[in-house]
Amino acid sequence: MKKLTKYVSLIITLVLAMSVLSGCGSSKSDKKKLVMATNATFPPYEYVDGEKYAGIDVEIAEAIAKELDMELQIEDVEFGSIVSGVQSGKYDMGMAGMTITEDRKKSVSFSDTYAKGIQSIIVAENSSIKTADDLSSDIKIGVQQDTTGDIYATEDYGESAITRFKSGADAVQALKTGKVDCVIIDNEPAKAYVSKNAGLKILDTSYADEDYAICFSKDNEELLNKVNDALKKLKDDGTIDKIVAKYIK
Ligand code: ARG
Repeated sequence: MKKLTKYVSLIITLVLAMSVLSGCGSSKSDKKKLVMATNATFPPYEYVDGEKYAGIDVEIAEAIAKELDMELQIEDVEFGSIVSGVQSGKYDMGMAGMTITEDRKKSVSFSDTYAKGIQSIIVAENSSIKTADDLSSDIKIGVQQDTTGDIYATEDYGESAITRFKSGADAVQALKTGKVDCVIIDNEPAKAYVSKNAGLKILDTSYADEDYAICFSKDNEELLNKVNDALKKLKDDGTIDKIVAKYIK
């Protein structure tokens, strides 16, 4: 009899302990999720660092989630599927060094801008391409598919000049092996890629100037407004500058 009581109390203790423990777990995920779609091939804005995501966008998104008392969840997807996924409500927001364009604005709404971007041109050090004016429909231009580099260059030089890659890193690899003559990509990722690949350089003349922002479903004005408030606060209190300074020297 005594033994039985012991067992019963042991079981009760175990059950209590388990419920306390799982209670702790669930109190963390009680926070509403903020699902961010990105394409983590784009240093210093978003990239995979060992087991985790890092970069300017990742840290700004974390700071925003904290302001909103939400739990950030990052989905790493193809760049070209971010806008449609946000539009359909699959993701709450898209943050990927994404340029505000009139065309994208037809599908999603954009937050206030939080950074400037420049489309730069990467070439081999000994390239005959010296300035942006040397680009033409006769040279092979590498781009990350569905980015503004892709969209603008296709408009300017025609489909046949463009070779599309899944990531900027793949485009840069193709440049190294001579499969393309140049790569058009955002300036900071260009710097990051060039610093890791000998024999490449960035032309002094840029190709386009742009503004980066976070995109939302047009049906989710509430979240857009909250994020804009958070962005304003994080700009005013210097958090964004601090994050940028950590990644861009
Ligand atoms: N700024 C360019 C655009 O909006 C390129 C962004 C690519 N971002 C990325 N995470 N791969 O089209």
